[in-house]
Order: sequence, then C-alpha cells, then structure tokens
Amino acid sequence: MILTRRAHSLAAVFKALIAILFFTLCFVVSYDRLRGTSSLQVMSNHLPSNLNLTAAHFPPELIRFWIDFADLLVQARPVCSEIKIDHAPPNDTETRFEPDNPNKQRVDFLRLSAEDQQAVKNSHSFMVKQALHKAPNLFYNRRTRGIVTTAGPRYVPILLVSLRMLRRSGSKLPVEVFLGSWDEYNSTICEGIFPSLGARCRVLTDIYNKAPSIAKPEHFQFKIFAILFSSFEDVLFLDADAFPGNNPDDLFLTEPYSSYGLVTWPDIFGNTASRLYFQIASISEPPVSLRLSSESGQLLLSKSKHAADLLLMTYYNYYGPSYYYPLLCQGSHGAGDKETFIHAAMALNRQFWDVRERPWVLGHWKKGQFGLVAIAQHHPGDDWRIESGQIRSNDPTTPRPLFVHNHFHKLDPKTIIEEGGPTRDAEGNYQRMWGPKESILDRFGHDLEQEVWKEILITGCDARTDTCAKIKDYYNAMYRYGNYGEII
Ligand SMILES: *[C@@H]1O[C@H](CO)[C@@H](O)[C@H](O)[C@H]1NC(C)=O
Ligand SMILES: *[C@@H]1O[C@H](CO)[C@@H](O)[C@H](O)[C@H]1NC(C)=O
Ligand SMILES: *[C@@H]1O[C@H](CO)[C@@H](O)[C@H](O)[C@H]1NC(C)=O
Repeated sequence: MILTRRAHSLAAVFKALIAILFFTLCFVVSYDRLRGTSSLQVMSNHLPSNLNLTAAHFPPELIRFWIDFADLLVQARPVCSEIKIDHAPPNDTETRFEPDNPNKQRVDFLRLSAEDQQAVKNSHSFMVKQALHKAPNLFYNRRTRGIVTTAGPRYVPILLVSLRMLRRSGSKLPVEVFLGSWDEYNSTICEGIFPSLGARCRVLTDIYNKAPSIAKPEHFQFKIFAILFSSFEDVLFLDADAFPGNNPDDLFLTEPYSSYGLVTWPDIFGNTASRLYFQIASISEPPVSLRLSSESGQLLLSKSKHAADLLLMTYYNYYGPSYYYPLLCQGSHGAGDKETFIHAAMALNRQFWDVRERPWVLGHWKKGQFGLVAIAQHHPGDDWRIESGQIRSNDPTTPRPLFVHNHFHKLDPKTIIEEGGPTRDAEGNYQRMWGPKESILDRFGHDLEQEVWKEILITGCDARTDTCAKIKDYYNAMYRYGNYGEII
C-alpha cells in the first residue's frame, strides 16, 4: 500500500518533470523555429548532405562536350534572315484555351517565304540528327538529383525567400544557382548565405566562354543553359520566384516522372505555336484544344531519358529570339523559352507528361477586377492519378497544389509591401495577397501565405532593408492573432 502510494507520488513527480521538460522543449523548439530561422544559420537538419562546395568547377568531360556541341549550334544556324513578327500579338479571344471546341483555329499570322521555310527546315533536320548523335556524350553526375535555378543580383532577395520556403517544406535537395558571370558573384551570398540554405553558386561564363565562336546568351536563354550545365541527372528547375508549398523531393521517385522523365506545367493561355513550326519540324500539328501553353516556372527533366531533346531545346533557345520564339509563340504572352521544352520532345517523338490541371490563380478582387498575384501549379502525381482514373477528379482536395510561382508580384522584401501592391485592398487597407485564408489552408494543408510572410520578414530584416519596419507592421496587423499567436 505504502509502496504503491510512494510509487504513485514518484510517478506524479516524474510525470511533472516530464511535463516541464516537454513544455521547455516545445518552447525551445517553437522559439527556435521563429528566432532560429531568422538568423542565417538555418535548420541544419533540413540541408542536403550531398552539397559539395569544392566542386564549383565544371568537369572537363562537360567542357569537352560543350565545346563540341557549341560548334554544332553554330553550324546549324538557319541560312536565312531572322524571323520578325510584324503583327499585333494575338488577342484574348485568340489565346483563350477551349478544350471542348475542336474547331478552334490555331493562331496563324506568321508568314515565311518558301525558301526561308525550307532553310529553317533543313537546319532543323540537321540539328535533330546531330542531337541524337551527340546525346550519349552529354556529361552529368549519374544518379544525382537536385534543383537548378538562375538569379541575377536583382533576384537574389527573391530567391532567398524561395530558398527559405524550399527548406521550410522539408526538401533536402541540393540547389545549384547559376549566375550570368563573375560580375554577379557576391562572396557574402555565394560563400555564406546560399550554403547555409543548401545552395551553391555556379558561374555560367566559366563554361560557356570556353566555346570561342558562340554568341553571348540573353537573359531568358540562361534557363536552358543552367539545366544543361547543372551537375544533376534528375533536375527540378525552379524560377527564382517559384517555390514548393510542400516537400517536392519524392517527385523524382514517383509517377509521372518515373515513366516520362519530363514533366511540364500549363500556363493559363492556349498554345500559340505557328503551323509553320510543325512543318519545319516535320511533325503533325496537334489541335489547339489539346493542351494549354506551357508555363516554365517549374520543370522536371531527366538527362538520362531526355538528353537528345535537351540538346534540341538548347538549339531552340539559342536561336530563340531570331527564329524559334516567333515560331513557337507568335508574339503571345511571355514569348520566350516556355514553349521550347515540349516542342523539342515532340520533334523527337519523346514522351512527356504535361500536367493537365489548369493553374490555380491566386489573388483577389479589386473594384470588380481580379488582381492576379501568383499562380499555384498542381501536384503531377495527383494529376497523373486523375488522368489514369485512379482517383476521382471531383474530390475537392485533389489535385493538391504544389508550387507557387509569384511571377506577377515578386516577393521582393524591398518592394512587396509598397502601396498599390497586392497587400492592400481598394481602400488601401491591409489584406492577404492570395485570397481567402480558408482556401489556402484547405488546399495546401497549412497557411502557406503566413509562412511566406515570415520568410519575407526574416529576409527583409536580415538584409536591413528600409521596408523591414513596414513588413513587421503588416505582419503584426495580419497575423499576430493568427495560428501561431506570436508577436514580432
Ligand atoms: C567534392 O567535389 C570534388 C571535386 O569534384 C571531389 O574531388 C570530392 O571528392 C567531392 N567530395 C565529396 C564529399 O563528394
Ligand atoms: C480578336 O481578333 C479576331 C481576329 O483574329 C477578331 O475577330 C476579334 O474581334 C478580336 N477580339 C477582340 C476582343 O479584340
Ligand atoms: C553582397 O551581398 C551582401 C548581402 O546582401 C550585401 O550587403 C553586399 O553589399 C553585396 N556586395 C556587393 C559587392 O554587392
């Protein structure tokens, strides 16, 4: 009896001790989550273990490949004058995607003389043969996976917010950040801040300039070269202003990537490639009701499965401004690299998975107009399961959104809080950027918008931007009574 009572009181003391320990731990952990992440030594358990900072140089095998391939790019220049669009861009009616209208006409105003079209076609078929021939020589580190991105100096603060969101998602993938040249190199960023977030800088010109006859790349051509020169076999490309809302690491291991090796996401407009492109590439012209145009804020590509199309994509981008962007977009929205990915795969008859689910537009109504702020792209596995009939498409929780691409309002801590931006309603009062909290909570499973504001606050205040105080004011007004209850 006494023994049991003593045992009971001992147990009670023990329980109390455990409870104290538990609450202390919780406090430390939550404090650490808030404060610890605000210092630049980020959660080391979230970092990739295979980040190799000493491997900053490009391997000789890749340099040899590039010198050879660059020669080929120059040789395959179409022997005719550049293609110019002298026509207003297609209007909203023309670019509207109408999946249920098989009679919808393809936008068709690009004209080429018969000789010019033949010249472009000849170079294209030469390039296709050579791409197939050279593809086995493409060098990359076998059985490696990682994220590739590009960032000029202006984009670094935006990328920091994205990288912090990536690590918050639990992703352990290493990140390679491609800079245009050494002029853009900043040792504080590249040797301190990025490595603390599992990212390292790579300088494009270190390899690009080894090929003497090649033309300097323009800004929007960097993306394909970053993918081509990255060390990974399996690449998730993310624009600097895009990040995952939940951990993306298993995308590489699951369908549709595991079968297709190339996954693209849709834009909100219809495809506007010219019919001339399909004649040049000698492939049949798909109906415009088949798929939306692509949005290249995020892309999955396997170099072992798609090396030849990667080389053709590079060709389309190298001759993008002069030939292939007009052919593939006819001056439509965001004409640039976005259409080069699936069309190169189509030209080589390679399989790819183009996510069918339309992007979820995030924003809010202001004076009767929808203000688009960002788009959310869906989980390709959910999309694949719906298309293959494994899950019902009328289940409101699927497909889940996965990536947020903040291309309309970049989350730059220096500017995002400004008047007239997405944080204010028509009367100038604070509001959430992405629309109702409930929809964010329901679809992502957590309040991703509050989380991104924490990272904007940390990034803006660490960099001592003038807007730090304004961001704090906004954060406190919007979230101090939020889920987390914290006041900063
Ligand atoms: C890092 O890269 C260097 C150069 O490529 C290589 O020699 C070294 O073995 C790598 N280290 C690790 C731990 O992988
Ligand atoms: C768009 O262009 C078509 C001609 O291709 C024209 O018929 C139509 O009226 C235009 N629509 C708008 C809204 O301007
Ligand atoms: C490098 O980045 C740091 C941190 O953002 C900044 O304070 C510094 O001015 C930058 N240096 C140069 C030379 O731009």
